[in-house]
Amino acid sequence: MPTLPNNSIPVTQPFLPPLEEFIPYLEHIWENRWLTNNGPFHQQLEEALCVYLGVQHISLFTNGTIALVTALQALRITGEVITTPYSFVATSHSLLWNNLKPVFVDIDPQNFNLDPARIEAAITPHTTAIMPVHCYANPCDVETIQRIADNYGLRIIYDAAHAFSINYKDQSLLRHGDLSVLSFHATKVFNTFEGGAIISQDAKTKQRIDYLKNFGFADEVTITAPGINGKMSEFQAAFGLLQLKYVNEAIALRKKIDDQYRIHLGKVPGITVPIQSNYATRNYSYFPILVEENYPLTRDELYEKLRQNNILARRYFYPLISEMPMYRGLASSKSDNLPIAHQMANKVLCLPIYAELSKAEQALICEIIRSVI
Ligand SMILES: Cc1ncc(COP(=O)(O)O)c(C=O)c1O
Repeated sequence: MPTLPNNSIPVTQPFLPPLEEFIPYLEHIWENRWLTNNGPFHQQLEEALCVYLGVQHISLFTNGTIALVTALQALRITGEVITTPYSFVATSHSLLWNNLKPVFVDIDPQNFNLDPARIEAAITPHTTAIMPVHCYANPCDVETIQRIADNYGLRIIYDAAHAFSINYKDQSLLRHGDLSVLSFHATKVFNTFEGGAIISQDAKTKQRIDYLKNFGFADEVTITAPGINGKMSEFQAAFGLLQLKYVNEAIALRKKIDDQYRIHLGKVPGITVPIQSNYATRNYSYFPILVEENYPLTRDELYEKLRQNNILARRYFYPLISEMPMYRGLASSKSDNLPIAHQMANKVLCLPIYAELSKAEQALICEIIRSVI
């Protein structure tokens, strides 16, 4: 079984509630033997998440990737989809699983998200949708993206895997676009071991998504579409209900870590701590820094130095998706089309941030970064 090196500090660690509090949920499952297929915990979690997130329609999934694949099916997206190369591979992989062509557009260096000023130039007669990512939970420029989509008749599916609980201008960020997709993977702020969800803006679309995630079944004898098995189990849903009780606490603990990094690294020459949107709440899911040319070490040297001290910072997102073998042949993958994304991918380092990161561990991370100045 793979294990972490002794005493290593990972980039993130899943938040887990007290084990004894999960036992009654398990006893309930054992009693009623409803393990999956829209069981009572699944229904309760949908309701609870709608309230918590401030959205109207949610469909729970077994993970975020199947949710992305299904979201594209639900809107019958065809042809080309404009997206970002600066993300986790699942964003673009969901397009390939639907036989769609990703068209990469460069990012904005302020927020690491699709640069709306570059979207129109990438639209062709085959473009049917835009799939932006709220990277590190920074909101995309949702208003401008919506305007472009409206002008050209395009759909918008947000990969909101990082953006759990984010409000933008006093309402849920997930209410923007046609659909938003969340991930509840173990590494996320809110986890159900594995898990995900699609937020729809109307009941009819949620209904279609619910059929699609259950093989297309509308009832025992009516199969409406070539759906998939994307259902969240009762075990995951029960765990989600328990996690929801602790998620504010987990986010508050992450905030303390974020505050400390800003205090201790904000003024280190050659280290840029990205600024945050004034219009959005935060969930402190990632702590990216940029290692600039005037820092004494390159980004990779700093990454190695931290590793030598058992600190497992991660180069999210490097390499860019557009550099991967299944994407690099695309015309939009050429590096001169994506200069900012390349710059960011070569400078970024995500530092450990999670509820149980100790003060001493964080002090050590900051000390190592400052020690070479
Ligand atoms: C941006 C992004 N999209 C999609 C996914 C895929 O989600 P999942 O792991 O739940 O399948 C992830 C993370 O895992 C992600 O970070």
